[in-house]
Amino acid sequence: MSNAPRTVAVGGGSPYLIHIGPGLLGDGGLLAGAVRGRHVLLVSDDTVAPLYLAGVRAALQDARPDLKIGQHVIPAGEASKTLHHFGGAIDALAALGATRDACVLALGGGVVGDLAGFAAACWMRGVDCVQLPTTLLSMVDSSVGGKTAVDIAQGKNLVGAFHPPRAVIADTAALRTLPTRELRAGLAEVIKYGCIRDPLFFRWLQAERGALLAGDDAALAQAIARSCEHKAEIVERDPLEKGERALLNLGHTFGHAIETAQGYGAPGNDNLNHGEAVAVGMVLAARLSAALGMADAADTDTLRELLLAYGLPVAIPAGLDPEALLAHMRLDKKNIAGRLRLVLWRGIGKAEVVPDVDEAAVLVVLRAQP
Ligand SMILES: NC(=O)c1ccc[n+]([C@@H]2O[C@H](COP(=O)([O-])OP(=O)(O)OC[C@H]3O[C@@H](n4cnc5c(N)ncnc54)[C@H](O)[C@@H]3O)[C@@H](O)[C@H]2O)c1
Repeated sequence: MSNAPRTVAVGGGSPYLIHIGPGLLGDGGLLAGAVRGRHVLLVSDDTVAPLYLAGVRAALQDARPDLKIGQHVIPAGEASKTLHHFGGAIDALAALGATRDACVLALGGGVVGDLAGFAAACWMRGVDCVQLPTTLLSMVDSSVGGKTAVDIAQGKNLVGAFHPPRAVIADTAALRTLPTRELRAGLAEVIKYGCIRDPLFFRWLQAERGALLAGDDAALAQAIARSCEHKAEIVERDPLEKGERALLNLGHTFGHAIETAQGYGAPGNDNLNHGEAVAVGMVLAARLSAALGMADAADTDTLRELLLAYGLPVAIPAGLDPEALLAHMRLDKKNIAGRLRLVLWRGIGKAEVVPDVDEAAVLVVLRAQP
């Protein structure tokens, strides 16, 4: 495995490139190449901004001295993915005098990417957004595919838009400052691709656990590129999630219910973050698949063991009420006509969307903690 930058192309109606490699946040030519007009709003959070914002800003300004660059920094964490902070980004675009060829640069994890992307989708009915993901989770998932959103009290991501980025620039060197817990959360989403459609990748992840957890650059770049290839293939065929894109939500209906029930990971408490909630959700989906006779229970065990080996949680946190979790699941965007529609599997690498899942069976799985 080499450290040379890689590129993954996302095709379809709004094609763009995903650039993956170390040091890309300092590549002024690459950054400036993605900016069409004269106005740039850099959106970041107060953990990432002190680490990388000045460098990105300087690289960009050096390459394009004519650019007018503004910035909007939100408090770090899911609790900031709100209409309030979205409004702040819109105010910052207005203060910048941003025109229709403006570009929003989303520098941070999925929270910044989703919020900044939504602001770009809404400002003047849509300006460019370039994603500069700095967490593993955002590199392998949220920065690609154009889903943007903010949370409201009733549920995660309930207000948003499809707005594909103009480019994604993933600097793998930024992962060196990422806390281990966040790296593991991203690896949950990487494992998800193996579970959905790639048993070989699943086996590779079993074999490369040591290198990935140690932050090995080449192994991480390989995991990111493979994940992005999977996501690119799916979103270019189904950009608006009318069909197979829903598969990417394996574990997410359960996971979102956990996140909503615990109140979006207020900083400083023991709440699961998004990737961790997805890890638990994948185990619950696997267990439900086995209970419904779709899959072998041994596959649940294999998945559980892999997640545990990556230091990820596999059980619902204590104190969350199964009935309340089910109520949150009823609000999931995948549901049709009030029926639960879940992503389940027939085994490792074989996920499928199952309409009209029996709520009683779901409740049994939610109640049965290992
Ligand atoms: N749009 C999509 O398709 C999609 C897909 C998956 C997830 N998401 C969303 O993504 C969000 C989760 O993203 P996330 O896990 O990246 O969370 P996050 O954005 O909250 O980042 C996690 C933490 O890591 C910090 N951080 C980020 N980069 C860092 C770095 N390089 N060094 C040090 N610290 C760093 C952040 O400040 C934050 O505290 C959720 O809101 C989820 O709904 C969206």
